[in-house]
Amino acid sequence: MFRQFFLVTIMLLLLPRQTLTFLHTRSPPLHLPRLLSTQYTIDPPSRNETVKLLPLLSRIHTNKQNFLAHHVVPAHTIAAFDSFKALLPNLPSLNGARNLILDHGCGTGTSTYNLAALHPNHYVLGIDRSSDRLSRGRTFPPDSHLFLDPSNPRVILLRAEISSFMILLSSFLTAPDFSFTVTHQKIYYPNPYPPTKLLSSRVYGLPSFPILLSLGGEIELRSNWEHYVDQFSIAVQALDELEQRSPRPISKRVLPSAAPGVSRFEDKYFKCNEACFGTTFLPPPLTNSRKRDRRHVRRGVVQTGVHSVPGERKSPANYELS
Ligand SMILES: C[S@@+](CC[C@H](N)C(=O)[O-])C[C@H]1O[C@@H](n2cnc3c(N)ncnc32)[C@H](O)[C@@H]1O
Repeated sequence: MFRQFFLVTIMLLLLPRQTLTFLHTRSPPLHLPRLLSTQYTIDPPSRNETVKLLPLLSRIHTNKQNFLAHHVVPAHTIAAFDSFKALLPNLPSLNGARNLILDHGCGTGTSTYNLAALHPNHYVLGIDRSSDRLSRGRTFPPDSHLFLDPSNPRVILLRAEISSFMILLSSFLTAPDFSFTVTHQKIYYPNPYPPTKLLSSRVYGLPSFPILLSLGGEIELRSNWEHYVDQFSIAVQALDELEQRSPRPISKRVLPSAAPGVSRFEDKYFKCNEACFGTTFLPPPLTNSRKRDRRHVRRGVVQTGVHSVPGERKSPANYELS
């Protein structure tokens, strides 16, 4: 008996990590304990967080217009957005299209470059608030929040606070001089904020989460914390339902740990055999009433920002979040 137990244990330890994690994720109700962990592994919370998440999302949904009306955009993000806007007319269409990928919290920009290589007909906008991370290996022009790489003109790096940037972008998406389509949004390894009391600091607990969902395109989240990925999915589904959108097709997977990873964090995790998870959401199918709404927005209902304190901008008052 002991001998058999010993042999099974040895076999499990010899299995590649991916197989073990696959077993783990394929059977959610079973909740097998993690058999291997690294210094980066985050345990699931001891209590069911969904009971806190759903009321939080409901409040976010109810307070959306209030948030948009009162959110004060920091001066550096206004400057960054204005530089981005000024750049757009100079970007030629690629193969007849003007497609944009958003790389949220791009850190050092590794993923931004990798995404540009993977999508040769797209511009990729990497946004991060950390000038320290963004400046690694490159020099931003003096007093500028925007970095353009002459050797890769499809990569744009921007120093900005992402919630504020999304607010500005969402009002501009429907403006006649914005002729880009957000085809993908990538959220790679966001800060996990593990304690439940920090739920509202996670990407899917922020008041700006509905704006992210409204920007469009396919959304991909990656994290080494499987719980984060699962809760993100619950949040997307709950908000889509609250906003009466059709459900988005979702796919979740364990990422094959073929180094180098797409981003710096992913690379770090892959190198030490930490399991990483990805979830992808296709854009929700447009219903007839949403198609009508979109035409309405295109006709110019959306207003642009109103300046309040010098250097800071109150969010546009009249938003149409589709
Ligand atoms: C854990 S790092 C991941 C970086 C990168 N995505 C990767 O996978 O290597 C999270 C990044 O998000 C950025 N970030 C967090 N909150 C942000 C915010 N509100 N606005 C802009 N960037 C933010 C941080 O500066 C940091 O670079």
